[in-house]
Amino acid sequence: MKISGVILAAGKGTRMKSSLPKVLQPVLGKPMISYAQSALTNVDNKYVILGHESDSVREHIFDDYKIVEQEEQLGTGHAVITLLESDDFKLDSSDYLIIIPGDVPLIDKNEIDKLIDSVTKNNSTLGLITAEVKNPSGYGRIIRNKNNAKKIVEESDASDDEKSISEINSGIYCIDKEFLVSNINNIKSDNVQNEFYLTDLIEIAFQKKQDAVIVQVIEDTIKGVNSMSQLNDVEDTLKEKLISAHMDNGVYFQDPSTTYIDETVKIQSGTKIFANCHLTGNTEIKENCEIGPNSLISDSTIGEGSKVLYSVVDGSDIESNGQIGPYAHLRTGSSLGDNVKVGAFAETKNSKISKDSKVPHLAYVGDADLEEGVNFSAGAITVNYDGKEKHKTEIKKGAFVGSDAMLVAPVTIGEGAMVGAGSVITKDVPAKSLGIERNQQKNIDGYMDRKKSSKDKK
Ligand code: UD1
Ligand code: MG
Repeated sequence: MKISGVILAAGKGTRMKSSLPKVLQPVLGKPMISYAQSALTNVDNKYVILGHESDSVREHIFDDYKIVEQEEQLGTGHAVITLLESDDFKLDSSDYLIIIPGDVPLIDKNEIDKLIDSVTKNNSTLGLITAEVKNPSGYGRIIRNKNNAKKIVEESDASDDEKSISEINSGIYCIDKEFLVSNINNIKSDNVQNEFYLTDLIEIAFQKKQDAVIVQVIEDTIKGVNSMSQLNDVEDTLKEKLISAHMDNGVYFQDPSTTYIDETVKIQSGTKIFANCHLTGNTEIKENCEIGPNSLISDSTIGEGSKVLYSVVDGSDIESNGQIGPYAHLRTGSSLGDNVKVGAFAETKNSKISKDSKVPHLAYVGDADLEEGVNFSAGAITVNYDGKEKHKTEIKKGAFVGSDAMLVAPVTIGEGAMVGAGSVITKDVPAKSLGIERNQQKNIDGYMDRKKSSKDKK
């Protein structure tokens, strides 16, 4: 038995009211179209129908898919006609074709396998996945003939009675190829939307006394996305699943409802995620960390036992036992060794901060290399930008940079050296030296008494 599969993804997604093609809308950080592609396994040949902005959608198509262009999008039936007429498909020798819409991201490959089993075991002509849903509005409604489907009525063509049917069409089918090829051209566009509806095939099968087998699944797995609110609903459902899988692996979530987490994020056991955290992109959080409340972490690695409190970490790597925040901002290219602290209102960028170093508060470290055990005090900054170019600051092992120091790069602070508070450092400070640049302090004896008595005289 040979089976091929096709994903329909040529539509614009008009109801999304977005300039981004619908199938590229991100769902937990991945484009919607990637979910259908991952769900379609166990088939011999894979096709995808593209049309609207196909150049940008193409970049997200997996290598094992053949792309067929549907230049004008005249409906789901027309999309399948386009496939059948394509040169690629003419060589296809499959017995059945699986059809999946590109806008049903929760679909699971097990359900597709269930559909294939139900259809192929009795050599049925056609099968479809349906679900009983709380709010069927917008979906095609299933008109049944006992255990089979007799007809699908689209929302815009449905009578009030038909609209009250709560069993809906998922848009996922398994169809005998010969039946498909001989009947697809009988689909007409005489409906409210003037489109060629693939769903009309069900009625055609019924008229020809062919079974349209129903495989009913739970609502959550076949939610379609036609609007922003459906996108949000689908993301919520997927997020709930994802968080409970992380919980099964020993990760604690204080408040899943305020946690946003991409599918791509890895978290190891013993870690606690507190309320209001966004974990996105290629992020990995190692064992026994405490993240949040209120932290955003993207494309970063957080080492074992680290704490990130009320902070933003982007494109950075933290080794073990990092202490970040509250209110720290680690920008792209920050690389922190073991036991590093970056504290309140400190910002780092494109910098290496080695083991046991501290940037505890109110500081900026940009384009810098801090060796082990450096103390970078409150208010100190690297002056890395001269208005045209960025320059590097090097701070060697065990150096101490006093409060409010300006290190005008390029500059090097030697091993074990100290920079006096308030200094503007424009020249290298040798190892074990004190670099200080400030006026001598003057104390004026009795100044305040004299000031008071001159006021009293007035
Ligand atoms: C479709 C079904 C409806 C079902 C729902 C499930 C039809 C007529 N209706 O409605 O019964 O309940 O899915 O979510 O099939 N597409 C193309 N080319 C086209 C038109 C659409 O490739 O010419 C693609 C779209 O990009 C989309 C998919 O087909 O990924 C479904 O199209 P959409 O317009 O979303 O159909 P629905 O109105 O949701
Ligand atoms: Mg749809």
